[in-house]
Amino acid sequence: MAHFKTRMTEVLGIEYPIMCGGLQNAANKELAVAISEAGGLGITNISMYPDLDDFRETVRWMRAHTAKPLAVNISMIPNIDMGDKIRQYLTICGEEGIDVIETSGKDPAEFVPIIHSYGMKSVHKVPMPRHALRAQKSGVDCVTIVGSEAAGHPAADLIGTMVVANKAVELCSIPVLVGGGICNGRSMAAALALGAEGVVIGTRFLNATECCISQNHKQWIIDHTEKDTILCQKAIRNMIRVAHNEAADQCLEMEKKPGVTLQDLMPIISGAVGREAYRTGDTSKGMFSVGQDIGLISDIKPAKEIVEELVRDAAAAADRLASIAKW
Ligand SMILES: Cc1cc2nc3c(=O)[nH]c(=O)nc-3n(C[C@H](O)[C@H](O)[C@H](O)COP(=O)(O)O)c2cc1C
Repeated sequence: MAHFKTRMTEVLGIEYPIMCGGLQNAANKELAVAISEAGGLGITNISMYPDLDDFRETVRWMRAHTAKPLAVNISMIPNIDMGDKIRQYLTICGEEGIDVIETSGKDPAEFVPIIHSYGMKSVHKVPMPRHALRAQKSGVDCVTIVGSEAAGHPAADLIGTMVVANKAVELCSIPVLVGGGICNGRSMAAALALGAEGVVIGTRFLNATECCISQNHKQWIIDHTEKDTILCQKAIRNMIRVAHNEAADQCLEMEKKPGVTLQDLMPIISGAVGREAYRTGDTSKGMFSVGQDIGLISDIKPAKEIVEELVRDAAAAADRLASIAKW
């Protein structure tokens, strides 16, 4: 296997510069452990647990199943103060030996000292270069910049990975990780060629054998193309890229109502509806976050094989670059 040494692998203590992004309802403990055991950085997401005890139990399970670094995603919602809750989750992460906290949604400045007080590292995810610079000022250890191809929440301006990543590496002195449309070795090598220290991958890991979403959802990804995602929730200023399914169409229809609120949309977009859809395999229900890279995903395999393939093909792409560019 190829060897990679970047500032991401050094700062986060991992073998390969590959991290799984926090996946609401899909970053289950088995997937997290499998990715970390394969040499990447596996993650779970606090939103998946009904209460703090349940979360602590899951973290203990993960810690018992791998000695390698593990991450937890804490997604914040702009304009909602989740401070006390976040401090409680961070305490559990610190006490139970989590290594990395991935934050997103709003500036993590008030939490960075707490993260560091437990010896954990802080990775903050942003959609625009100016947010990356702000995260650096807040003291995070690495910043992830995610272009508009990605699953989840892009910036309103919808600028692609190639441009936002390029600009973020120019602006920031801390390690920059890149996400959005990265699902194979070629795109991983492209991110590294742009100056990134590593990659953050979401959609590709949905089709890992260990991922808890249903077989129907994994098959949906295989059966659809890069044209089959859609942007919802613009009307409530919380834009999200999701699979273009019946629920997305219903959501867009409801968004036409003047003054539509989050509460109005909840019966379609709530996390509980999405979780139930993953459980039952009903791909018509729930907001199913996927990136445009579904057009490049054609199989389901163990996370270890996904990581090995990424590493092997990124090294081959780097060799190709080296062979075509000579001084
Ligand atoms: C099913 C799913 C759920 C996601 N949920 C979250 C989340 O709760 N918080 C977050 O910060 N990012 C979330 N993301 C975004 C990913 O962490 C990551 O930034 C993104 O998937 C990278 O782009 P890619 O999908 O093209 O690989 C989610 C992505 C997916 C596929």
